[in-house]
Formats: sequence, structure tokens, C-alpha cells
Amino acid sequence: MTQFTHHDTASTFDDALANSQKPTANGPSSIIALSNQKGGVGKTTLCVHLAAYLATQGKRVIVADADPQGNATAWLADDGLDESALWRLLIERARPETALHVAKWGVGLLPGNGESGDALITLTALRRPFDAIAQALQEVVERMRPDYLLLDMPPSKAAGFRELLFAADYLLVPTQVERLSLNGVQFMADTLHELREHLGQGPRLLGIVPNMVRPRTVDHGDHLVDLVQHFGAAVWPAVPLSIKVSEACTYGTTVWDREPKGEAARGMTDVCERFVENLAGSG
Ligand SMILES: Nc1ncnc2c1ncn2[C@@H]1O[C@H](COP(=O)(O)OP(=O)(O)OP(=O)(O)O)[C@@H](O)[C@H]1O
Ligand SMILES: [Mg+2]
Repeated sequence: MTQFTHHDTASTFDDALANSQKPTANGPSSIIALSNQKGGVGKTTLCVHLAAYLATQGKRVIVADADPQGNATAWLADDGLDESALWRLLIERARPETALHVAKWGVGLLPGNGESGDALITLTALRRPFDAIAQALQEVVERMRPDYLLLDMPPSKAAGFRELLFAADYLLVPTQVERLSLNGVQFMADTLHELREHLGQGPRLLGIVPNMVRPRTVDHGDHLVDLVQHFGAAVWPAVPLSIKVSEACTYGTTVWDREPKGEAARGMTDVCERFVENLAGSG
């Protein structure tokens, strides 16, 4: 696996891609936010796996780590990156190509850390924060032409949460299947509705991904049925609870690497395939 850490010029991302991927950015880019009101449901896990899958399939994919915890950054770049691309994009008005790192699997990474949170706080205190954040992400799309820009979202109470969501074209909601999980997903659906009401536009719900599922337990089975009753076809294939997924996180790799033929790898592949299908279908 090649690791690229230089980030001085636009050509770095393209050079790196040329080694491992064929740029395919002729169609429009999509910005996809991975978010849930609830923490610890698998947002970062799904974000990193989608990015690895798509990049390995030859797509141009950028992950913007908008969570000040910087978990996606730590997973995708294990060389101790401590830099906030959001700070540089939003506050210093840096050009996107100077903030982009080419990380594992050739994924383009806009790293995040505590400063990302500060940048979002600063921005949301100014006039027109919705426009400012949407413009910054739009500039990333225009200059870097990814097929997909994945946003690993901050917690729902954090500054910039609604603004980042507004800037996305689609929302993907990983969720656990426990007693109160439905509330978190419903909160996200309501937030989309609110954005549309107040601002006249907002992302579309792309899908809901049941994660950490124990398929053979009655409890999880019941909660999955509840989810499908509420959200119908928006509920995607499930990813099972598996130590292989947490190992992937620990070792900074993927579940396909840890146990390629395991149930978790199969579930994750099904989710990635659904992602590609749904986005291809929606043009
Ligand atoms: N399918 C799974 N099976 C087992 N462990 C999982 C699974 N999915 C995620 N995990 C583990 O659960 C923890 C939380 O996952 P993750 O960090 O992706 O959630 P998150 O929603 O991004 O959390 P946060 O709200 O803190 O950003 C991690 O330790 C991860 O390894
Ligand atoms: Mg996370």
C-alpha cells in the first residue's frame, strides 16, 4: 500500500490516482454526509469502508473529516497527521488542493482535528454560515472533481452540524438496532425536512444502514422490522456485529483485509454495492 503525504500541488492527488486508479470524474460529483444524532453507531467505520471500496474500484473519492475527534483521519492516515483541512479551507481560505492528503487506498483526505471544530464555531458565528460552508465544499468538488465527497459528520449538537448537512446532496445514516435507535434516525429525517422547510433545499435521504446487527437474536430482529416499517426501502443491507470490524479500526485497515470471506465483509460489500447502485440510479 502506497502512502502519499505530500500535498503541495493539485497534481499530487492526480499523480497518486494515476498510479492506482483511473480518474473517472466526468459525471457530476456527489457530496454524501454520514451522520446520525447518536454517537458510536458506525459513521466513521462506514465512511472509511466506503472510501476504501470506491477508491479500490477506481473511483475518485475524498473524505472530509468534519468530526473534531479526527477518527477518520487517524484511520486513513497513520503517519500522525495533525492538521485541520476545514480550518484551512474555511478560515485561511486555502485552496483545496493544498489541504488535501492522499491517504490509504489512494483516498483523498481532508483531515480533521479539534481545530475543525473551532473553525465551524467561528464560521457559524458569522453571517450566512450555510452559504460559507456550502461554498467551501463546492470549491473542493469543482477543483478536485471527485466522484464522491464523503463527509464524516460531527455530533448533532456540534457547531456546523446543520450547515454541513445542508451542503450535502445525500445523507447516509448508520444506526444500531436497539430500543432507542429509531429516535436517532427519525431525528435525522426530521432535520432534513426542517432544512427543506427553512432553506428551500437540503440533502436527500440516501439510505439507513443497520450496523452491529446480531441477526439471529429476537431483539435485533424486532428492531430491524421496526426500522423497515418506518423507513421502508430506505433501509439498506445490514452489517453484522463483528470483532473483525473493530480490528479493522484498531489496525487502520478494512474488514475485507481482516477476514475477506467473513459475514461482516459480505455485509459491508452489500452496503457498498447498494451505495454505487443507488447513486448511479439517481444521476
Ligand atoms: N459492525 C461492527 N461490529 C463491531 N464493532 C463495530 C462495528 N461497527 C463499528 N464498530 C466499532 O464501534 C465503535 C464505534 O464505531 P465508529 O467510530 O465508526 O462510530 P461513530 O458513529 O463514527 O462514532 P462517533 O459518534 O464517536 O463519531 C468503534 O470502536 C468501531 O470499531
Ligand atoms: Mg465517528
